[in-house]
Amino acid sequence: MKRLFIAFVICLSFGLTFAFAGAEGEVLYNKKCAKCHGSDGAKTSGASGGTMLKGQSNDDIKAKLKGYKDESYGGKKKKTMQRMVKKLDDKQIRQLSRYIGSL
Ligand code: HEC
Repeated sequence: MKRLFIAFVICLSFGLTFAFAGAEGEVLYNKKCAKCHGSDGAKTSGASGGTMLKGQSNDDIKAKLKGYKDESYGGKKKKTMQRMVKKLDDKQIRQLSRYIGSL
C-alpha cells in the first residue's frame, strides 16, 4: 500500500511539473509572440510573414526556433524571428514549443 502511495505521489508531481511547464509556455507566448502570431497561433497576416503556427507539432516548432537561433532556418522575414529567439534560452524554447504544439 505504501509503495502504491509513493508511486501515486511521483506521478502526481510529474503531472504538476508538466502542467506548470505548459502554463509557463503559455505566459511566455502571450507576452512575446501573440502580438504577431495571434493568441491562438492562427494569425497569418503580414506580421507573421504568412506562416501559421497552429497545427504544427512541438518538434517542428522546436526545430524551427533552433534553426532561427543558429541561422539555418528562415524565410524572407527571418531577421524578425532571429531577433526574437536570441533572447530565449533552451528552456524557454522547450516551453514555448510545447505550448504551441498544443494549440
Ligand atoms: C514582430 C513580430 C513577431 C513576433 C513578436 C514573433 N514572431 Fe514568429 N514570426 C514572425 C515572422 C515575420 C515570421 C516569418 C519569418 C520568416 O520569414 O522566416 C515568423 C515565423 C515564426 C516561426 C516559423 C513558422 C514556420 O512555419 O516557418 C515560428 C516557429 C515562430 N515564428 C515562433 C515565434 C515565437 C515562439 C515567438 C515568441 C517568442 C514569435 N514567433 C514572435 C514574426 C514574429
